[in-house]
Amino acid sequence: MHSVSVFFVFLKVRTMTTLGTPLSPHATKVMLLGSGELGKEVLIALQRLGVETVAVDRYDHAPGQQVAHHARTIAMSDPAQLKALIEAERPHLVVPEIEAIATPMLEELEAAGVVRVIPTARAARLTMDREGIRRLAAETLGLPTSPYRFCDALAELQAAIDGENGKPGVGYPCIVKPVMSSSGKGQSKIDGPEDVSRAWDAAMAGGRVSHGRVIVEGFIDFDYEITLLTVRALGADGQIETHFCEPIGHVQVGGDYVESWQPHPMQAAALARARQIAQAVTDNLGGQGLFGVELFVKGEQVWFSEVSPRPHDTGLVTLCTQHQSEFELHARAILGLPVDTALRNPGASAVIYGGMEATGIVFDGVDAALRVPGTDLRLFGKPESFAKRRMGVALARADGVEQARRNAKLAASQVQPRRV
Ligand SMILES: Nc1ncnc2c1ncn2[C@@H]1O[C@H](COP(=O)(O)OP(=O)(O)O)[C@@H](O)[C@H]1O
Ligand SMILES: [Mg+2]
Repeated sequence: MHSVSVFFVFLKVRTMTTLGTPLSPHATKVMLLGSGELGKEVLIALQRLGVETVAVDRYDHAPGQQVAHHARTIAMSDPAQLKALIEAERPHLVVPEIEAIATPMLEELEAAGVVRVIPTARAARLTMDREGIRRLAAETLGLPTSPYRFCDALAELQAAIDGENGKPGVGYPCIVKPVMSSSGKGQSKIDGPEDVSRAWDAAMAGGRVSHGRVIVEGFIDFDYEITLLTVRALGADGQIETHFCEPIGHVQVGGDYVESWQPHPMQAAALARARQIAQAVTDNLGGQGLFGVELFVKGEQVWFSEVSPRPHDTGLVTLCTQHQSEFELHARAILGLPVDTALRNPGASAVIYGGMEATGIVFDGVDAALRVPGTDLRLFGKPESFAKRRMGVALARADGVEQARRNAKLAASQVQPRRV
């Protein structure tokens, strides 16, 4: 059990952070809810600061569970299981890494003073589906977004596209996504009336829970899209300060990230607007930690797309571009420590997919990959491979992003997953 006094210092005296010794009565204990590749890097960053870590996932031997002090396997979307685990472990901080969590239970436990949720339980709830965060950004904060509607049936989807009762619809082309999904699952583009029912069926099949609700968004013909990593961290005076990383450019295929690079060049006016939008969203979500703000840009025009109140997959590139990666920034910010978002050098990341359905696969060509100049590799250690499962990422630093992108893709292509 952790001591009450450590807990008190940690929560109340904002300008002083005291960290404990892991596996001792004075440990500072952090629980990750979701322990995939992003959680694994956050756990490693926490371990380096002597934090005692608990890695939770829905399956055994998840990447983060392999590097944490404690591994727990539960259904995180089940409020009773989540409550029982948090009450048994009593971590100082609970850090959601995924969206599919019983967030109302987190709000209850936070309100009762049982635990602090990163960045806040409310932020975890609002971002767990597309509706909470979209309504907050567009309707409460008045930020520019794509035109959108929420629909619960195929006929509603058609009406949302066409418009009804004198109200204009989102029109064609548009994109349909299940409200509860990530990494492009169940998402498709609709170019004309003939695509509508197919897109509806794809959304029904690809959503995380089959409650049948979708968002349909007008298609934004952007020049490029970025992730603006935004950090809310304590300054020396104990006040929250907002820091921005250099913009990250990325390529999505079927709604899933395949390549990212940093910095992505932006016109000054567009960058200023992007920062304003990111600041407005993160100010509202509150708490401490790093956020991945996704934005579409065309000329000087910027649209808010979505936000993760946690490290972002496209931000894996920061492992080779920043003095402090997005994972270290998150770890520091949540512990009340100062952060440095400065870029060290340009770089890029390229995803390595499993390419097959098998357990316990091996990876050939790791040596060849690492012979590409300036490269590094993360193999996540996922016990099971699927064709489109992200199993690793190649990282490359270079003098410019174009060279870095070439090298990252080359290194990724050298790594060959294989069934044994
Ligand atoms: N309204 C839109 N207009 C144009 N492209 C879009 C739109 N919505 C999504 N996309 C594309 O699909 C990608 C994934 O969509 P996103 O809403 O971020 O889903 P996910 O939560 O699965 O990441 C975006 O990064 C972008 O490339
Ligand atoms: Mg996204």
